Amino acid sequence: MSIVRSPKLFSARERDIEPVVKQLLADSLLGQEPGLATKPLALAFDLDAFEAQFTAAGGLPEFLQLSMKKYAAAAKIAGRSQSCTDPAKTVEDSQSCTDPFLHCIACKSNPLVTLLSLALKNGAGCECASINEVRLALEVGFPAGNVVLDSPVKTVAEIEACLLLGVHLNIDNIQELGRIQKMRATHPRLCKSNSVIGLRINPLVGAGTIKALSVSTRRSKFGVPVLPSGEAKSTSDDDGVLTEDEFVQLFLQFPFLSCVHVHVGSQGCGLRLLSKGVARAVDMCQKINAAAKRRQVRTIDIGGGLPVNFKDEATTPTFAEYAAALDAACPILFAQPPIFDRIITEFGRALNAKTAWMVSRVEYTKKAGACTIALTHAGSDLFTRNCYAPQNYSNRVAILGSDGVMRGPEIYPRSGDGAAAPTSKLYEHDIAGKCLWYFLIFIPSY
Ligand SMILES: Cc1ncc(COP(=O)(O)O)c(C=O)c1O
Repeated sequence: MSIVRSPKLFSARERDIEPVVKQLLADSLLGQEPGLATKPLALAFDLDAFEAQFTAAGGLPEFLQLSMKKYAAAAKIAGRSQSCTDPAKTVEDSQSCTDPFLHCIACKSNPLVTLLSLALKNGAGCECASINEVRLALEVGFPAGNVVLDSPVKTVAEIEACLLLGVHLNIDNIQELGRIQKMRATHPRLCKSNSVIGLRINPLVGAGTIKALSVSTRRSKFGVPVLPSGEAKSTSDDDGVLTEDEFVQLFLQFPFLSCVHVHVGSQGCGLRLLSKGVARAVDMCQKINAAAKRRQVRTIDIGGGLPVNFKDEATTPTFAEYAAALDAACPILFAQPPIFDRIITEFGRALNAKTAWMVSRVEYTKKAGACTIALTHAGSDLFTRNCYAPQNYSNRVAILGSDGVMRGPEIYPRSGDGAAAPTSKLYEHDIAGKCLWYFLIFIPSY
């Protein structure tokens, strides 16, 4: 793999793709050079678009903007601040607003060091699903306190290493909680750890449109399931489920817990469902603090899951829309001064999907029945979900000629079942999209 920077050209906008491919060809990056080092496949990242997710209107700063707007509106009502009467001046008012948000990029969504470094440069933290992701994040330079380990299967050694380093740990289950308690009792130096330790709640708000990625049902694998307020356990499906009071008691029993973590699902979950899960988690934090008679829970981690629209260029839903949905479901999340010292988010796909695309040379073409098959260099190892569950995951595909020019305006859909899509002249047997917005085939000789 080699990383080539082309600051003038790389872009994830549809209209810019053709010139980028032409440039790649001109730079001999996709050609038929002799030798094994030849590169028939390229991933193009629009670094400006990626950075904009952390810095621009429409990106993650929308969460803080909402806090500031609400603060300004409240100040106006209270007649406290003249400078807040104009919503456009809310930015000026930011000095009076505290920013509790730490936006972590989900490492699994794009573990390339260049991208992680850019996220770090723009103030992000890093959410990790494994100890190796933690090691990567630390090597990239994320401060340990801004690295969050969510793996549900942490070993004793991993827990110990994270506690000694000060990495934020989110506990998945009650056995793990007991393990950490025991480790702290046996090794008092672990009690001096700076790590924030959270417990993941499964708020039981139900599934989204992709069952396999919904993690807030009775049978979901992650977190501690907590029945909605007032609901009693009844069926065998309630084995392992806690009542709200039992969840609160856990926190009282384990005072080192200072964070509630929630993640309702990764893709396929609408804004209302995601917000409902977060609202439940916030409610539990308030109940815990009321019962503890102190601010035991100072951090909330509201996970990721913002869905991505792969169908066209539009970004929908946006971070601003998600912030608004959260505000509707749980206005206290945006209170100023904030009720939490830290509000962590863990977005993955939504940060990456609109900022990158892939292009592959078509090495061969062949006929199979009525279809023409293009054999490309991007296979199911890159696009596993799309290849095996295309009903849930799809990417747009376009075809370019050997001159880098788009072959007509058609965008070729990936067919779902191994048969050619009826309107396509070309069937891509083994391609689809990962967290990438766009997928192109370049055909030298077809
Ligand atoms: C705990 C947790 N947080 C964050 C994410 C990122 O989700 P998404 O890419 O949908 O934002 C995932 C994805 O699996 C996850 O499991």
